[in-house]
Amino acid sequence: MSSHPDATKKLLSADLLKMRADGEKISMITAYSYPQGMIVDQAGIDIILVGDSLGMVELGYDDTVPVTMDEMLMHTKAVTRAVKRAHVVGDLPFMSYNISTEQAVTNAGILYKNGGADSIKFEGGQEYANVASAITRAGIPFFAHIGLTPQTAAMMGGFKVQGKSLDAAKAVLDDALAMQDAGAFAVILEAIPQQLAEIITEKLDICTVGIGAGPQCSGQVLVFHDLLGLFKKFTPKFVKVYADMYSAQMDAVSEYIKDVKEVNFPAAEHSFNMKKEAVEELKNALGV
Ligand code: KIV
Repeated sequence: MSSHPDATKKLLSADLLKMRADGEKISMITAYSYPQGMIVDQAGIDIILVGDSLGMVELGYDDTVPVTMDEMLMHTKAVTRAVKRAHVVGDLPFMSYNISTEQAVTNAGILYKNGGADSIKFEGGQEYANVASAITRAGIPFFAHIGLTPQTAAMMGGFKVQGKSLDAAKAVLDDALAMQDAGAFAVILEAIPQQLAEIITEKLDICTVGIGAGPQCSGQVLVFHDLLGLFKKFTPKFVKVYADMYSAQMDAVSEYIKDVKEVNFPAAEHSFNMKKEAVEELKNALGV
C-alpha cells in the first residue's frame, strides 16, 4: 500500500524520497498517450516516464536517436492531461541537452513548464553533472539515467550490460554519486549487474530505479508496451511480460472485421430508429 494513498494529490520528489527512506518500493512505468496515462495512474503507479522509448514503441523508429523535442512535448502534454496522482517525468531526447547547458535548461523548461511534467530526465553521468546542476538550479526537479544509456548505445558497442569489470563498475558508481551531488532526486540504473545496483543503492540517499538492475533498487521501471506484450520486435531479458495485449487487440479487430463482412454488426442495439409513420412519410415523399 502506498504511503501516499490520496488518488488526487500529486506525488512530488519529496514524497518519492520519503518512500525510499521508508523502504517502500517505488513503481514506475512509461506512458505516451492520454489513455495510457489514465490507465497507469488509475492503477496506482507511483511514477510515469514519458520516455523517448516513444520513438521505438509508438512512432516506429529503429531507436531513440531521431526523437525530437516537438514529439516529446506533444506526448508529455497528452499524458499530463490524464494524470492526477502519479509523478510524471519528462524525458529530454538526444541532442536536446548535449550541445550546451543553456540548451539543456531551455528544453528542460519546455517539458516542465509547457508539458506539465513534474521532473525532467536525461541520460548521462559525470560528464553531464554540470548540466544536471544547472537544471536543478533553475528550479526543475531532476531525474538522472546512467548505466546503459540507449541514446548513446552506439558508443557503448550496442545494447550491452554496463559496469561488469572493476573499473566499469567504479565508473557507474561515480556517475551515480556525481548525479546525486548535482541535485538529482532519483536515478535510473539501466542494465547493470544486480550486485552493483545494490551497492549504489546503499551508497546513495536518492531513489534508485532499476531496469535490468535487480531487485535491490528502491524502485523498478518497465516500458508500457514491453510489460503488456504490445511490442513484438524484441523483448529484453529484464522484461517480465504480464499480458499479451497485441494478440488481444488483434483478436478484437479481426472479430470486428468478420462481423462487418457478415453483417453481424451493427446489430439492432447499435442502430437508431425513426417512427413507423415517419418512415412511410419519408418513403412517400421520396417515391421509394
Ligand atoms: O525512454 C525510456 O523509456 C527509458 C526507460 C527505458 C527507462 O528511458
